Amino acid sequence: MKFEIIKADNYEEMSRIAAEKVISKITEKPNAILGLATGSTPEGLYKLLIEDHQKHYTSYRYVKTVNLDEYVGLDKDDKNSYFTFMREKLFNHIDVDLNNTNIPDGTAANMEEEAARYEKYIDEIGGVDLQILGIGHNGHIGFNEPGTSFKSTTHLIKLAEKTREANARFFNSMDEVPTEAITMGIQSIMDSKEIILLVSGASKAEALKNLVYGEITEDFPASVLRLHNKVTIIADQDALQLI
Ligand code: PGA
Repeated sequence: MKFEIIKADNYEEMSRIAAEKVISKITEKPNAILGLATGSTPEGLYKLLIEDHQKHYTSYRYVKTVNLDEYVGLDKDDKNSYFTFMREKLFNHIDVDLNNTNIPDGTAANMEEEAARYEKYIDEIGGVDLQILGIGHNGHIGFNEPGTSFKSTTHLIKLAEKTREANARFFNSMDEVPTEAITMGIQSIMDSKEIILLVSGASKAEALKNLVYGEITEDFPASVLRLHNKVTIIADQDALQLI
């Protein structure tokens, strides 16, 4: 197996180890391109990056960020858009230039054009140096649901019901949960020079087991990570219980 698994005692330790890695990347390469993720898993990491920025002045002035995905149909300032999430959880609290932060536009009139624009932009800035990833219960990475081609680039995707159910906790009702998203593709993610996958909690244990021991198949998108040459999985004990 090519990837490294770092065992953390709990969510806090997982977040701390991830923060150290991100900070050391930015220290080594102040103009790094960071690939960022949303969801509950990376929130602790973002809190620690903010704390570090305030205490140690680590600067994001020359950093560019590209986010994995965005819901289709939510206004940018909707409380559940990933645009809002990233500003509230990270961007508003560090010195990154908001013009250097990028999230696919879930309100674009033409999603194919938006996907092509996003993919081209990532290419033009030289590709992602360090991609932060979470994993869905069904093995999705970004919003690449089971069945997505390993060759996919940024694209429009219909969300799996399991994903909509998992994310319903943020909405008033199931009806409000978007049915589609625009996401970096599996190939786009695999093109990152380095990947950190964060996995926390007992509910992700089965997914992590599948990723580590299961078949490499488009039916379980995260399994593709076994083909990447620089993946670090940082997981807490609860998530590691079946490993
Ligand atoms: P979560 O989402 O961090 O909220 O569990 C992860 C994902 O769906 O990729």
